[in-house]
Amino acid sequence: MNEVTYSFNYLVYNSIEELAFADRELLEKAKAATHGSFAPYSHYHVGAAVRLANGIIFSGSNQENMSFPAGSCAERVAVFAAAASYPDIPMEALAISAKADSFDVTDPVPPCGICRQAILEYELKFNNKIHLILGGQNGHVYVIEGMGTLLPLAFIEKGLKK
Ligand code: THU
Repeated sequence: MNEVTYSFNYLVYNSIEELAFADRELLEKAKAATHGSFAPYSHYHVGAAVRLANGIIFSGSNQENMSFPAGSCAERVAVFAAAASYPDIPMEALAISAKADSFDVTDPVPPCGICRQAILEYELKFNNKIHLILGGQNGHVYVIEGMGTLLPLAFIEKGLKK
């Protein structure tokens, strides 16, 4: 029997102003994308922006539905739009932000488990890590290298490709 330890490092910035220009720009786009959110049930507005290796940025926001599970998170709206428009271009970076109607989103917003699995697929497709920039409304920002970093023991079955 072996015990295996999993750990990862990430950067914590005090504010969006401390970020490198390209990261800041992408997080600003994610923040702006919260305005497109359709969240009449949760009143929680998430924005995401993904930058492709060709420099093009796609943004998305959460889209809710009366049949709750039919809605989609902001991250998948942005990433699927990018993947559908430029299927051969890897994704370089993804920024996420959120605001809520009745409270301040003070902590950085990490992607949910479904989005981690969905977006990991594109890291595998292009064999590249996506640079993640996670912000809240204000305050701290986390920068993490790779969606796979956030999903240890992800479901990866190469046999399904055969
Ligand atoms: N949501 C996202 O858009 N991204 C996440 O990573 C977590 C949650 C959305 C789904 C729902 O519309 C609302 O936030 C509250 O869960």
